[in-house]
Amino acid sequence: METNGNKNENFIAETKSKKSSFTGKLGFVLAASGSAVGLGNLWRFPYLTAQYGGGAFILCYVLLAVFFGIALLMLEIGIGRKTGKSVIGAFPLLNKKFKWFGYFSVCIPLLIVPYYCVIGGWVLKYAWSFIVASEGLVGAGSTPAMTEGFFNSFITNPYAPLIFFLIFALVTVLIVSFGVKDGIEKMSKILMPMLAVLAVVLMVYVLCQDGSIKGLEFIFVPKVEDFSFNTLLGALGQLFYSMSIGMCIMITYGSYMKKEVSVKSSATQIAVFDSAFAFVATMIIIPAVFAFGAGEEALKTDGPALMFIQLTNVFNAIPGGGRFIGVLFFVLVFFAAVTSSVSLVEAIVAVLCEDNKMKRRTACLIVFGVIILLGSLSSLGFGVFSGFQIAGKGILDCFDFLANNILIPIGAIITCVFAGWCINKEIIPKEIGIDKNKWLNRYFNVIVKFVAPICIFIILITGLFITL
Ligand code: PHE
Repeated sequence: METNGNKNENFIAETKSKKSSFTGKLGFVLAASGSAVGLGNLWRFPYLTAQYGGGAFILCYVLLAVFFGIALLMLEIGIGRKTGKSVIGAFPLLNKKFKWFGYFSVCIPLLIVPYYCVIGGWVLKYAWSFIVASEGLVGAGSTPAMTEGFFNSFITNPYAPLIFFLIFALVTVLIVSFGVKDGIEKMSKILMPMLAVLAVVLMVYVLCQDGSIKGLEFIFVPKVEDFSFNTLLGALGQLFYSMSIGMCIMITYGSYMKKEVSVKSSATQIAVFDSAFAFVATMIIIPAVFAFGAGEEALKTDGPALMFIQLTNVFNAIPGGGRFIGVLFFVLVFFAAVTSSVSLVEAIVAVLCEDNKMKRRTACLIVFGVIILLGSLSSLGFGVFSGFQIAGKGILDCFDFLANNILIPIGAIITCVFAGWCINKEIIPKEIGIDKNKWLNRYFNVIVKFVAPICIFIILITGLFITL
């Protein structure tokens, strides 16, 4: 192992191509946070918090994020920065036997991005509907039954969701085609701070409403009866999804990171930023449901529709400025979703363009083709193809299940086994900058070698067991 490691060191130094990179720490942290902060934070985290009973879920999430979310983020970024390669190149550079794993990893974003664009399209539709004040959705005259009907008739319509999905996918692919510095970094530098400001303004607005305090209680006071193995599993799955770990996205981003930027502090900042966003989103959506009268029951029953249906009701209940706030909110969610979908596409394009094998534009076109094909199936799965189901799941759900409940946990386990057992164990801690700190180094090793792979294995098995 030792000599293999040294040989690899030289090889890596020689082969590191002069690829474009993020200009500095801020650029990297913002772009990676842009990947992490997305529909997972604004749409998925609040409804999972609602479903799993509030405080208990939040507590599990925070503990898991602190104990191994940050370590896994550091690991992936460290592998990327060390090798300077996308997933296909990074693994064999450190251990030749792992070439296949790069190909495995890249299948995950390829499965996620098409349906991510479908949901991104829904968000776009809502942003648009608020801008043009669509009848039956926006305005004091729209009853909760009407807004629910609006949501259902939109997602089952054969054309409308397809059109919005295509626009969302096109925006994503165009941004990636401009390249790392000109596309992703520029966009993140503008959008991420804007997003943070918009979210905080909305949160303050909602928290100033009567009744919102009950929502805060729901979020922050854990109830003993809500702690269960399921809550822990839900929090763990959400952690991977939200921090974009387990599918090697952060390896690609790490490969664009300059040597002088600290992996350790960047990873910590990304984790804090990502969690903060999820909490702010939750502190908008959950207290709003209490303050505007939808009640605790709606939190439990609405599930994934929570953001779309309940918030629309909330915006409609606001006298005067509801439409304006609705536009702000859905535009914010749209920005967050685009920066995430961009990172998914970038991970695939980086593989296709590795060592100048393919032009960036050509790679983008190919990915766009795959997105159209698989995304159209997901979108039509709610209408024309609604009869097509596997184990009671529609097409979009099947892709989501395959990616999040099966492939991501497998990817995360293999990444840990790879770094913990199959390469020189000093390479990654050195790259991350924790090799001189005895305790931090030990902690990192224990998490990567034992704690993370074992816990993730439990999620995988239990997840499959519960659902199938
Ligand atoms: N982390 C993103 C979110 O919270 C989703 C995502 C997953 C993005 C995987 C990239 C890779 O929405």
